[in-house]
Amino acid sequence: MRKKITVVGAGQVGTTVAQLVAYNNLGNVVITDVVEGLPQGKALDLQQAGCLQVFDSQVTGTNDYKDTANSDIVVITAGIPRKPGQDRADLVATNAKIVKAVTEQVMEHSKNPFIIVVSNPLDAMVYAAKKVSGLPKDRIIGMAGVLDSARFRTFVAMELCCSPVDVDAMVLGGHGDSMVPLPRYTTVSGVPITDLMNEEQIDRLVDRTRKGGAEIVGLLKKGSAFTAPGASVVKMIEAVLRDRQRILPCTAYLDGEYGWKDIFFGVPVKLGSRGIEEIIELKLTPEERTALDQSAKDVQSIIKDVDKILDGE
Ligand code: LAC
Repeated sequence: MRKKITVVGAGQVGTTVAQLVAYNNLGNVVITDVVEGLPQGKALDLQQAGCLQVFDSQVTGTNDYKDTANSDIVVITAGIPRKPGQDRADLVATNAKIVKAVTEQVMEHSKNPFIIVVSNPLDAMVYAAKKVSGLPKDRIIGMAGVLDSARFRTFVAMELCCSPVDVDAMVLGGHGDSMVPLPRYTTVSGVPITDLMNEEQIDRLVDRTRKGGAEIVGLLKKGSAFTAPGASVVKMIEAVLRDRQRILPCTAYLDGEYGWKDIFFGVPVKLGSRGIEEIIELKLTPEERTALDQSAKDVQSIIKDVDKILDGE
């Protein structure tokens, strides 16, 4: 039987995810949104590309969560995006309520989905979805590290005039300005970039990666990035549905790993058919450790706000 992938939110990220899932024949897609007609229209348009792009995934749009029943994977993109000058954390109150409502409705119709959260502030929104869903920690994850490391890979490739395909990068921590790109674990065909660039170059690329989302928000003026975020989600979906056992930086629930408990945080995980199959603990220098702890503290403070919002209702 074909796998069922539900995408909550028919905005730019949701639509990109639906498109790439279909183009890659990963399963049938259900797009759901509160706006009447929007998911139906997006779905019909995408379905009509099937004979041209050569896919046979069925794509449907709906305003009714009944149609999402028994989903294997649910991608939550619902929420308001950032405006220029806004921090991801500025969205917390509005998006926590949206993520709560969405998660409740998802869980009403699917017993054991694998949930991927994209809504911002990311780490805190995955936390909210876990708290509301009661899903085990291996069945719920956030998309951030794949995107942040794709940005770092791209900037490295642009700087060195080489193919981004040959660049591997590791970005840990929260999906905010204190995220921790790790140059020592960033390589071009196996060679660490610390051997290929000077400190000024590396610092500049690290800074641009940290502000990678804001750079695009500033350019677009309205809305935030969607192509690379959508592609990042689909890389994670593919790892799970095809049991690829891929090692990817993702936002996972920490239960003592890296010295932190009860937070969602960007760390390398092994992704396969059982969801998060392992959290990989990298050896860090004291400086890297300090940066990671600072990022965890930032995430923890937003999570505390989410707890207040969820418990206050
Ligand atoms: C970004 C959003 C997806 O980083 O958080 O562009």
